[in-house]
Amino acid sequence: MSNDPLWRKDGTVIDENAMAFMSRGDVLLDRHLFRFDIIGTRAHVRGLGRIDLLKPEEVERVVEALADLDARFQDGRFVLDERFEDGHSAIESDVTRQLGDLGGRIHLGRSRNDQVATALRLFMLDHLDQVRSLLDAAAEAAEEIADHHRDVPMPGYTHMQRAVPSTVDLWMGSFAEGFRDVARLAELTRTWIDSSPLGTAAGYGSPVDLDRPGVAEELGFSRVQENPMQVQAARGRYEHQVLSVGWQALQEIRRLAWDLVLFSTQEFGFVTLGPGHRTGSSIMPNKHNPDLAELLRGQHAIVGGAMAELMQIVTLPSGYQRDLQLTKAPLIRGTLAAVDALGLIPDLLRGLTLDRDAMKDAIDPAMSMTAKAVALATRGMPFREAYRVAAAGD
Ligand code: ARG
Repeated sequence: MSNDPLWRKDGTVIDENAMAFMSRGDVLLDRHLFRFDIIGTRAHVRGLGRIDLLKPEEVERVVEALADLDARFQDGRFVLDERFEDGHSAIESDVTRQLGDLGGRIHLGRSRNDQVATALRLFMLDHLDQVRSLLDAAAEAAEEIADHHRDVPMPGYTHMQRAVPSTVDLWMGSFAEGFRDVARLAELTRTWIDSSPLGTAAGYGSPVDLDRPGVAEELGFSRVQENPMQVQAARGRYEHQVLSVGWQALQEIRRLAWDLVLFSTQEFGFVTLGPGHRTGSSIMPNKHNPDLAELLRGQHAIVGGAMAELMQIVTLPSGYQRDLQLTKAPLIRGTLAAVDALGLIPDLLRGLTLDRDAMKDAIDPAMSMTAKAVALATRGMPFREAYRVAAAGD
């Protein structure tokens, strides 16, 4: 690590292996949070300006230096790597390199504990917005297919046995409604976690009288998270709830993928996946494989695993504990998995070809027995008798 940790004091001998163990994977994960950390830092610095701890021109210079860092990070001129203990240190070190002592003053009144909570909160809100629009796009694609196949018959199954005649719009409409339902969950989760942790410092409040409401407003939060200890206590729990939105979306995707894998077999032949969404076999020239649908089906395991990992970590006493750092990896892994899968759904759906004849031919006459029994019962026959009459085919 070429940059000394922020907390190094005279005479401290830092064990390199221990240091590497504590930060190695973590600083790389901070790449996902870095832009949000820069945004949080900008709001903090502007807040320091409002309470006269930085002069207006000093605030301006730091804001410019942060914009410069952000630009270099985006185009690859600044690489966040093991040279730094974490993304937070990298920001302070880069601003100090640009502005000298002024860079060393941007951390006044905050701790990396509220800094990381803020970056994570912004990351999660951004993720929920992404998920919501991806879910809307997936729902639209399913609705399109439903609209183009109003009343097109297909078998309805229970226990995987032919049950009653159904329709393509009912089938596709169920996914549209499922995706819309989870989009609503994303919105509710967003409202739940939409509070600003910044200004709570290490978890017991800041010794400086910070403008917390002003900072929260600049960051787009709808409120301040008041209790500083609760900011740390929420870490991991909010992450878990955010992942559960992705998990719900992936349950719908799993069901869709299962149906597509099954209905595209030669035995069913109801659907054909688009040419860009099928794969071949390295040995069997005859094969068209649904690898994509299968991997989509398996994706929920990644998010479910990440949720389980979070639950193992969130078993801590009050106050910040370094274990909380371990919540980052499952959060980032799980959110990426959900976004990746959701992004593929509209094209997968639009690429499908449905074989109307195959679906219609799979509806055998016995499947009308339920309707027949119900018709007899509505005319006054006891349903148990109507059931037997219909079964006997009289
Ligand atoms: N990487 C740390 C985390 O995610 C940042 C906060 C470090 N705070 C500390 N007191 N060492 O929790």
